[in-house]
Amino acid sequence: MTSSQQDHFLLVGAGGREASFALKLAEDSRVSAFVSHNNPTILECVTTTGGKTHVGDVCDPDAVTGFALLSKANYAFVNADEPLAHGIVDKLTDAGIRTIGATRAASRIEWDKIHAMLLMQSVSPECTPRYEIVKTPDDITPALDTFQELGLDIVVKPQGLTGGKGVKVMPEHLSDYQACADYTAELLSSRPGEKVLLVEKLTGIEFTIMGITDGDNLVMSPASYDYPFRYENDTGPGTGGMGCFTAAEKKLPFLTDNDIQQCREIMHAIIRRLAESGTPFSGVLNGGFFKTVKGIRFMEFNSRFGDPEGLNILAILQQPFSGVLRAIWSRTLTDIDFIPEASVIKYLVAPEYPCKSPSATRFKLDITGLRSLDLNLFFGACEQIDSHTFQTLGSSRVLAIGATASDIAEASERINQGIDQFVRGQLEYRRDIGSREDVDRLISIALPWNTNPENT
Ligand code: GLY
Repeated sequence: MTSSQQDHFLLVGAGGREASFALKLAEDSRVSAFVSHNNPTILECVTTTGGKTHVGDVCDPDAVTGFALLSKANYAFVNADEPLAHGIVDKLTDAGIRTIGATRAASRIEWDKIHAMLLMQSVSPECTPRYEIVKTPDDITPALDTFQELGLDIVVKPQGLTGGKGVKVMPEHLSDYQACADYTAELLSSRPGEKVLLVEKLTGIEFTIMGITDGDNLVMSPASYDYPFRYENDTGPGTGGMGCFTAAEKKLPFLTDNDIQQCREIMHAIIRRLAESGTPFSGVLNGGFFKTVKGIRFMEFNSRFGDPEGLNILAILQQPFSGVLRAIWSRTLTDIDFIPEASVIKYLVAPEYPCKSPSATRFKLDITGLRSLDLNLFFGACEQIDSHTFQTLGSSRVLAIGATASDIAEASERINQGIDQFVRGQLEYRRDIGSREDVDRLISIALPWNTNPENT
């Protein structure tokens, strides 16, 4: 992968993850961005590299393509779920722009959870959990009965995209089978044209692993552990992700080499199957899996870098990100080097998150203080008021703070310390993400499973 000073990348989107892409690309390339709002990190990267920004609808293929042509970017990188589902990659490619990201057809693996489950069933039935597809209200009772007869709790999933906020779990969010039936009926009526996916609730440890692919070659990133629930100790509603960690070793401390190998084989089989079926996948396939007493089980696929998982991975990327993107585009991806350090990311959010806040909240940062602790900042749903003051926007995650260290807990502690000392305002976060207690808890859950010779 050779680097070139001349390259000019267009980014689409304005979350914390796009901020991390902008920072990485700005190291050696010009950055332009089509954004939904003036994200402070992205604006700074665009300004310092001499690119352009445009604020608009990131899901409008004509608007994004028009700006891409105007900006004269020679590559575009599209990664967020909604723009991928709206065919932004297809339109940019048709306009002759070298575009990295999944096409609308390939990203169906994320925007249609039933398609993903059927695909998974076809390549690895042994790792696919029990599921039922509900098409009409009449299907609800028979579908629920199949779980109830086996005494299985359920996860109710809308078929389409919900930004991580539509999936509800029994008994945490849905107290019993009747509550699952009611929520399923509500989804059928509130999301016309969609079905509902009911999946056996898995008991185990959820983790993600990203496969970076040019359509043929597949390079696995370090595995990551995400915290989707809003409050400490995994309570409260599901969110887009409150934080995440990766370990210095590429696998997480509770995973075995065999677990990683199994995920790799599944993802390779999926990529091959998509190519055979005429919808080749190129970009990032993010696999959500559960480690269970019986081995690896599938949960979901994303057709992109996860957020915050992608931020963790970029923090330990040992080579220019521009080169990785170019290699995906030119189908010359060989290997990717990662720094052997743990990486922790924590999101700060408004108190009402994941619900919309009634009003914008101002907060202050001592950026010099945060940087003195070697912390990385990635702005998300906020705008800058003055050099230290920022204001939240909308209902998304506001600011991600990341650290790398030899040990997960050390990085986590450093972020907590930085937030306590240098962030002022009404923002909340989870102290327990990557804490020593939480990592030890995960290791102790998996220990008996990992001593089973079949799982090592
Ligand atoms: N962290 C979950 C996601 O990116 O969808």
